[in-house]
Amino acid sequence: MDTPITVLVTGGAGFIGSNWLNLMVPRFPACTFVNVDALTYAGNLASLEPIQNCLNYRFEHCDIRDREAVKRVWETFRPDTVVHFAAESHVDRSISGPTDFIETNVVGTLNLLEAFRAGFGGATSVRFHHISTDEVYGTLGAEGQFTEETRYDPSSPYSASKAASDHLVRAYHRTYGLPITITNCSNNYGPRQFPEKLMPLMILNAIEGKRLPVYGSGMNVRDWLYVDDHCEAIWEVLVNGVPGETYNIGGNSERTNLEVVHAICRVVANELGRSYESLVGQIEYVKDRPGHDFRYAIDASKIKAELGWKPTESFETGLQRTVSWYLANTNWIEQVRSGEYRRWIEQNYTQR
Ligand code: NAD
Ligand code: TYD
Repeated sequence: MDTPITVLVTGGAGFIGSNWLNLMVPRFPACTFVNVDALTYAGNLASLEPIQNCLNYRFEHCDIRDREAVKRVWETFRPDTVVHFAAESHVDRSISGPTDFIETNVVGTLNLLEAFRAGFGGATSVRFHHISTDEVYGTLGAEGQFTEETRYDPSSPYSASKAASDHLVRAYHRTYGLPITITNCSNNYGPRQFPEKLMPLMILNAIEGKRLPVYGSGMNVRDWLYVDDHCEAIWEVLVNGVPGETYNIGGNSERTNLEVVHAICRVVANELGRSYESLVGQIEYVKDRPGHDFRYAIDASKIKAELGWKPTESFETGLQRTVSWYLANTNWIEQVRSGEYRRWIEQNYTQR
């Protein structure tokens, strides 16, 4: 991308957004990247340390629930392109309290779409790219995969709020002709993921000798994708995707939760010279999540065939990189384990 465009990135201090910015900001020095983030418990500027001094990177503290604030950001930066990561993203938190999910994921997306619509000048390079999840499709049984044509059937307040935002984004294309694209991706893992999600929680608990809380039977299946592979797919869709289109992204890497936890124990045992059996002994089966989707699996043939994207990390290489990152970045871990983090762990796991 040699054109000097301004890319407005929402939620760039979160897990996927920060990894995306850390890759793209140095790679495209002619572009200006403006990171718009409210810095909720999940947002952390320390995740952007590799690019904090780059001249083509700016941080703007802004809550997308605030329509006037969004409008001001728009007027200040006049972005050509929007990459919309910002969201409340944790299913368990959406079960404890759905309101923030509707306000940020639905109303926040509406506010961005309205700003985009007002400032849209008709240039073909302009794009609103919305990052979404495979969870909008609901649950699969033992067979089959989600395609872009699968009917939406969300189970949790989180996935329902993401489904609503996807519908809004698509409606703005059909109604107002806005050049939007949407990607629905499977479960990501990698560096800088807040340790409320399965992978980082299990990695840190395994390292620290704490219990490994597996929900229900541990037989629920997720399709895992290393975060940098997701980031590359997003860039591909941004540059070469067709406006109005949706692309599914997945790693073709299905694992039961129990397989994931065993794999983490294996890598941690190797890295720290500990006994694999004793790490596995830390597993504890706990109360299941209500409405727990059984299985997700993505058919990514559209993005592969039309845009030539494919993942580069296998589950094994990605997991090794992830565990190594958490072992090497203890400062980052200390920083994210704020009072809010401790409150969540207390609330979610003490009586589970
Ligand atoms: P995250 O929770 O790690 O980060 C979310 C970011 O959004 C944080 O920086 C937070 O401060 C910011 N944010 C939250 N509310 C905001 C608000 N009102 N205004 C401005 N900023 C706000 O999430 P993530 O895992 O990086 O996910 C990013 C996006 O990708 C989300 O839209 C999510 O639905 C989607 N997604 C995630 C996964 C996954 O496995 N993590 C998979 C598929 C899709
Ligand atoms: P999670 O990382 O929360 O992602 P999502 O719910 O969006 O798929 O959970 C991944 C899977 O791991 C899901 O089936 C729930 C399960 N899980 C546990 O078994 N124990 C835990 O402590 C957590 C956080 C998740």
